[in-house]
Amino acid sequence: MNRLLCFCRPGFEKECLAELQDQLAAKNIWGRFIAEESSGWVDFILSPDCDAAVHWDMLDINQLIFSRQIFYFDEVIDLNGQDDRATPISNALLSLFNNLGLDLLFSDILVQSPDTNEGKKLNRFCKQFVSPLASSLRKLDFKRVYSRSDLPVIQLFFTDYATVRVGVAKPDSCSPFTGGILRLKFPADAPSRSTLKLDEAFQVLLTPSEREKYLIPGMIAVDLGAAPGGWTWQLVKRGMEVYAVDNGPMAESLMATGQVNYLREDAFHWRPSNTVDWLVCDVVEQPMRIAKLITQWFQEGLTRHAMINLKLPMKKRYVEVKNCLDLIATSIGPRVKLKCKQLYHDRMEVTLYIQIL
Ligand SMILES: C[S@@+](CC[C@H](N)C(=O)[O-])C[C@H]1O[C@@H](n2cnc3c(N)ncnc32)[C@H](O)[C@@H]1O
Repeated sequence: MNRLLCFCRPGFEKECLAELQDQLAAKNIWGRFIAEESSGWVDFILSPDCDAAVHWDMLDINQLIFSRQIFYFDEVIDLNGQDDRATPISNALLSLFNNLGLDLLFSDILVQSPDTNEGKKLNRFCKQFVSPLASSLRKLDFKRVYSRSDLPVIQLFFTDYATVRVGVAKPDSCSPFTGGILRLKFPADAPSRSTLKLDEAFQVLLTPSEREKYLIPGMIAVDLGAAPGGWTWQLVKRGMEVYAVDNGPMAESLMATGQVNYLREDAFHWRPSNTVDWLVCDVVEQPMRIAKLITQWFQEGLTRHAMINLKLPMKKRYVEVKNCLDLIATSIGPRVKLKCKQLYHDRMEVTLYIQIL
């Protein structure tokens, strides 16, 4: 097994690749790659002396900013002229499992396509293919054990109906979601679509036990650049009291909850009088200026947690994000936990979770 596939937001292949190369180089792993612009994926072919079979948890999706999903595979399978796709794919999986010395047990099957207009045409087919593949795998004595979250996840990636990459990932180093995309329904009473960014951030960047501990009714939050209130809505929904800082107006429905204190102030100058539980920030500004602002809040002990959106209108987006993370990590010190991700609901931006340990 000598290849790995990463999915990313279409248009961010360069960033996805640069980050992969950085993380692999740190482990002395090199290779060639296929990374077409706007395709939404990167295929990394490891150098012959590296066998991913030995280290197929060498990358952790939770430690990658620009990758949404990852899996390891051997070859691209051409299904042209085949009416029955499930059999050749199951046979390929059988050889892969045998080569890896794995029991024929798995925890899930993800059938995926690129997050592009062309790729979306395959969505329905991908969804419907899970069932015939599962029954074909059963005939080869594969067993799906739902309760065993330690077992490999089988992943397929179709770039068209006849071209598929078939592989596996360790469950805790890949995303549990098809294509690495957490699909969320827009809540009808939320004031803006931005609300989905913060909802996804809480679900992806915090673990279930962190959500239970850190998102508690009665907590105090500050929302910088709050208007019209999509992020504040998420905090209010979780029972928090929110200081909403913005020059623009907040949705009246939010103000009517009695949980929102609206402050027509400058996000870069206003400070709370006591430490708050959460600082969230969606102000459109240079990422470095936002990183410096957030750093000050932590240095002054003004918040325990922060969820920050960094906008990336510039060309060197990966370098910019790395510089911001470096600044925050070095200024706040070793007791800081940082998690950064380009979420599905992020566009030209990434979201950053910061916690003082
Ligand atoms: C992307 S919008 C925020 C959307 C909001 N998170 C939501 O979910 O509805 C950015 C907001 O930042 C505000 N903003 C920009 N610069 C600001 C500043 N210096 N102080 C306060 N608010 C600012 C803008 O008025 C705008 O409402």
